[in-house]
Amino acid sequence: MAVLGCARTAVGGLGTRSGRSWLGITDSCSGAGAGAAVVTGGIRMRVIELFAGAGGAALGLERAGFSHAALVERDADACATLRAAGLGPVVEGDVRDLDAVAAVAGESCDLLWSSYPCQAFSQAGRRLGAEDDRNGWPWTVDAIDRFSPTWFLGENVRGLLSFDYFDEVIMAQLRQRFRCARFWLLNAADVGVPQHRRRVFTWAGPSPLVPPTRTHGPGMFTEPWVSMGEALRINGASSLMRRPSPTVTAVGECKGSGAGANPHKMQRASDALFLATGRRRLTVAECATLQGFPDGYPWHACRTKSARYRAIGNAVPPALAEAVGRTVINAAGGESC
Ligand SMILES: C[S@@+](CC[C@H](N)C(=O)[O-])C[C@H]1O[C@@H](n2cnc3c(N)ncnc32)[C@H](O)[C@@H]1O
Repeated sequence: MAVLGCARTAVGGLGTRSGRSWLGITDSCSGAGAGAAVVTGGIRMRVIELFAGAGGAALGLERAGFSHAALVERDADACATLRAAGLGPVVEGDVRDLDAVAAVAGESCDLLWSSYPCQAFSQAGRRLGAEDDRNGWPWTVDAIDRFSPTWFLGENVRGLLSFDYFDEVIMAQLRQRFRCARFWLLNAADVGVPQHRRRVFTWAGPSPLVPPTRTHGPGMFTEPWVSMGEALRINGASSLMRRPSPTVTAVGECKGSGAGANPHKMQRASDALFLATGRRRLTVAECATLQGFPDGYPWHACRTKSARYRAIGNAVPPALAEAVGRTVINAAGGESC
């Protein structure tokens, strides 16, 4: 594990707005920044993040206590947003160019995170799976073999679970490389995000991980789920506003909903908005709120409105990534500042 100094500069300047930090970390370990976690002795675990998008997972991992050795992303708008948010170092390019990643991150890391592209396995796509030339799993394995991370976390859509490829290739390859390898199916609503968004997290490492604590949901020992109406400050009689929103999508919210919206099979968050209020479309800011991004996150760095919707809809909710990242920090013997 690499030893980094305790002082942090990532939140300075562009990483802050109105004196608040996106990252939830302070410049010094002695100041208990909200959500800051540092492994004993001021050591931060280093993460290489593949397919970083505009920073949903990145924000959560920084809040959990990781320090990025590299964020790898090829989309120019997403990279501009990462930089504007103070997240870095950004490697703008293809994840297959491992020499470019190593030139920034060095030859090792504590954690490799990969949000390998999901179109190949998505219910919404053509579900070509491993045959799809956008399947990012083989590139992820190449990165594991190159950087030999102590821990691995992978994130994908739940449609992945219905492919034999998941067990026969993905889990099998992780079991060949790590002592422990398993997966969890997690819902962002269960950690306080105002949205039902279920994702598969594969994890692997030298010892078992304890799954994130469910903090929200039905039951005596949790807070109630955060509703769509509460998050967007939309009051009204519709029961649709009194529950977490349907999943925010990458392109659907941009187009909006309309008369075809089916209350029994809501494909996107805009369907719920339309059925409850007659408004067709969620704004960019509303989508970001439903994903749990902080107010004022620099979406303006994406040059077009559709690029903003896409970056937001593709993201891992920061709170979910933080909860998952903390499981590694905890297993590695970390403690909060
Ligand atoms: C599901 S999104 C990742 C979202 C991100 N984890 C977050 O939390 O915001 C997948 C990303 O992978 C990027 N991508 C796809 N293929 C890539 C490649 N070969 N090299 C680098 N980035 C790639 C896309 O541009 C997209 O931003």
